[in-house]
Amino acid sequence: MSSFKALRVHDAGKGVEARLDSLTLDQLSEGQVVIRSAWSGINYKDALAVTGKGKIIRKPPLNAGIDVSGTVETSEDPRFLPGDEVLVTGWGLGEIHDGGFSEFVRVPGDWVVPLQDPLDLRQAMAVGTAGFTAALSLVRMEQSGLAPDQGPILVNGATGGVGSFAIRLFSRAGYSVTALTGKTDAADYLKSLGATDIMDAGELDPGNRPLEKGLWAGSVDSLGGEALAWLTRTTKPWGYIAAVGLAQGIELNTTVMPFIIRGVSLIGIDSPLCPRDIRLATWKRLAGLLRPEDIDAVVSQEVGLDGVVAAAGTMMERRQRGRTLVKLG
Ligand SMILES: NC(=O)c1ccc[n+]([C@@H]2O[C@H](COP(=O)([O-])OP(=O)(O)OC[C@H]3O[C@@H](n4cnc5c(N)ncnc54)[C@H](OP(=O)(O)O)[C@@H]3O)[C@@H](O)[C@H]2O)c1
Repeated sequence: MSSFKALRVHDAGKGVEARLDSLTLDQLSEGQVVIRSAWSGINYKDALAVTGKGKIIRKPPLNAGIDVSGTVETSEDPRFLPGDEVLVTGWGLGEIHDGGFSEFVRVPGDWVVPLQDPLDLRQAMAVGTAGFTAALSLVRMEQSGLAPDQGPILVNGATGGVGSFAIRLFSRAGYSVTALTGKTDAADYLKSLGATDIMDAGELDPGNRPLEKGLWAGSVDSLGGEALAWLTRTTKPWGYIAAVGLAQGIELNTTVMPFIIRGVSLIGIDSPLCPRDIRLATWKRLAGLLRPEDIDAVVSQEVGLDGVVAAAGTMMERRQRGRTLVKLG
């Protein structure tokens, strides 16, 4: 190919400018595997990157997009052959390495994950980092001892990408899931994903004692801040919290009481640098749990490269539900 399109983020003085550029392969960050992109998806981090609301891209100019799926175009890594269907999430894609909002991507072979049967390239990106992170939360908590008979799971930021997939995955894995949302009109959607109970974030009385009534055997926290502090106080004895996100804040004001009196485990989830063996096992687990209709239910819209910035704005205004796919092929 002579040239191709990419959504490239440029330094614009006080902020950033994300615009469609025409690039050639030799302009891309280095790697052994060139992927002809088929799909990507918009994650919270991508929305921060292309709107400039967060410093995600360390050294502009850089192509945005932390996820991509597609077919191998060329490979100097013997594990991959032209035509192989693959995906990449994290590892610095769209942060320090030219990312997935591009018709071609070039990455190190160690970053490349073979597409997991029965997912197709579109479904893999409907899942993307958001779904992978939800599945990693399930895998990490179960590795520590969580099981469905221990009690309900609380998922906050419930209508978001991570939250939506967390509800679906834990529900498919046999857990009872309570969804905590700030959207008052989301109950039908959340129930369709498998939530058994819905909590309205606006009506929550967080209490202020170091230990409140123990309610949750496990939780997936996309919010941080007060939301995470409340989870530490309301997790059942020997329960687990997967700390995933910071949509509400980065601080955590709590006490040691949940940890030393109730044996609560706070498990950090870092999907970008997830080691390869756990990464492959987690994709296998989620591909086994999710049904095609589960994935369709979470996808709210599809855009082209020219629609990413507007969709990212909607996400920043908290008007987004589920996942936005980006069609590249
Ligand atoms: N650790 C990791 O590896 C990893 C991986 C992926 C994502 N993350 C992080 O996880 C979080 C969720 O990511 P995502 O892609 O699911 O984002 P998303 O689709 O934008 O979902 C975030 C959800 O959180 C709620 N929310 C947003 N802003 C809020 C605020 N100011 N206060 C309270 N609730 C708010 C909303 O849900 P409701 O309206 O339903 O309440 C929103 O839908 C982000 O912080 C992201 O950076 C971390």
